[in-house]
Amino acid sequence: MHKETKTKDSNSRAEEWGAEAILVKDNWLGFNVIKKIRIPKKYRIPQIDQELRKSRTISESRLIIEAKKIGVRTPYVYEIDIPNTTIILEEIEGELVKKILKQQIAIKEKQELVNEIGQQVGKLHSNDIIHGDLTTSNIMSDTEKKITFIDFGLGKISNAVEDKAVDILLMKKCFISTHTVISKELFESFQMGYYITMKNAKSVLRRAVKVEARGRHLKEEALISEYLLS
Ligand SMILES: Nc1ncnc2c1ncn2[C@@H]1O[C@H](COP(=O)(O)OP(=O)(O)O)[C@@H](O)[C@H]1O
Ligand SMILES: [Mg+2]
Repeated sequence: MHKETKTKDSNSRAEEWGAEAILVKDNWLGFNVIKKIRIPKKYRIPQIDQELRKSRTISESRLIIEAKKIGVRTPYVYEIDIPNTTIILEEIEGELVKKILKQQIAIKEKQELVNEIGQQVGKLHSNDIIHGDLTTSNIMSDTEKKITFIDFGLGKISNAVEDKAVDILLMKKCFISTHTVISKELFESFQMGYYITMKNAKSVLRRAVKVEARGRHLKEEALISEYLLS
């Protein structure tokens, strides 16, 4: 029997639009695997839907492989089944970072964990790999406590400072919404890690502040126009 492994995650952007994929545990040539199957979305025109699912299947696989090439831990991609918009991935034995950060362990330990995440994100960004959905539900810590990134479905290759800044901001927002009480300490440690491996960390972090301010400004504008319209 296949076992569903999909966990509800209110923080994931894909969830907001209704889950994009189903995740199924399976055995493939003796390996424990996770099948990530992108399912049709009724609200999309069927042909566009099929093309989108195919291109995301290819792009996610490519990014997972690229990240591994530069020494960032990701699952092995065993098979890419494009017609069935399915990726067969190595099952990572470990835990979601989201879960670990909610455990009753010393804050110092949690800070060390996110510092390491910052270093790994710095490596990704140094190689122009944008994760696209940096949340603690898309990062695992495996049995050897190695940081492993999953879910590159919204990722891309880009050298734009803005894209890297958006990635950083997503991480910050996740800390604030999901790990509220310790979010300041976490983001601090994350940034320190990012500085270690990312050459132009400063310009990315500066841009992140700007992008955040822009977002706040837009929100205020929306509130004002709502007020005027009411
Ligand atoms: N390779 C994997 N090994 C172990 N668990 C996985 C793996 N890939 C996904 N998962 C589990 O499934 C969940 C959803 O997978 P994810 O790729 O993030 O899909 P979605 O795009 O729907 O968020 C993850 O949060 C994780 O718990
Ligand atoms: Mg996810």
